[in-house]
Amino acid sequence: MRKNIVAGNWKMNLNRQDGIALVEDVLGKLPADNKTHVIFAPSFVYLHKVAKMCADTPKVVAASQDCSSNEKGAFTGEVSASMISSCKARYVVLGHSERRANFTETNDQLKAKVGQAFASDLKVIFCCGESLVQRESGVHFEWIKSQISESLFHLSADEFKKIVIAYEPIWAIGTGVTASTSQAQEIHAFIRNLLAEKYGKEVAESTSILYGGSCKPSNAKELFASQDIDGGLIGGASLKADDFLAITQSF
Ligand code: 13P
Repeated sequence: MRKNIVAGNWKMNLNRQDGIALVEDVLGKLPADNKTHVIFAPSFVYLHKVAKMCADTPKVVAASQDCSSNEKGAFTGEVSASMISSCKARYVVLGHSERRANFTETNDQLKAKVGQAFASDLKVIFCCGESLVQRESGVHFEWIKSQISESLFHLSADEFKKIVIAYEPIWAIGTGVTASTSQAQEIHAFIRNLLAEKYGKEVAESTSILYGGSCKPSNAKELFASQDIDGGLIGGASLKADDFLAITQSF
């Protein structure tokens, strides 16, 4: 059985105090029988603090929002996978559309980042997704296939078990426009089929595929009830404890 995961991508939001208060609030209210894997992805600056706060709660861990494609050295301002790992984070989010667009991250660079993450024992939440122009011109399936295959298909089936995919249509991120359940399910099924062709049914069936893009308490239940949607990567709604909690309990 694949994991149900809800990850909060805080992006460049919340200062240290507000971040700590949010995590305290969520941890305090999480039901004792919580079955969802919950991930907080704060800024690097207090990643260690958040990871430590999660240490005693089963199924709750921290992630970074990115890592360097280099191992170490003269890369001023960069943060390496081994630094992240030493701060007790368990995951790294890679290939978010905001990083692809604002920092011109390529599929090739992301492939290198995946390598760094694995070398430091981090699991990867790998983001993919199309723009509105791409969807309207019908190239979105090919686009998503190239994002996944060019950055991930060098991995062995065994390595692929450390990958979580997040489908985030760019037109739904921060816009209030959510992909309809059938639009999201269609892409998730396409991705799972792609994984089955490359790695076989077992890997495909055990890979968690998350949806991201204006996911909130009011639509999470319907989205997560879909056969191939195993949870969410949440932006705006992850900044409010009660909204984020409600999403984690939407399975
Ligand atoms: P929103 O939930 O704010 O649309 O952001 C989604 C996202 O980009 C998560 O990584």
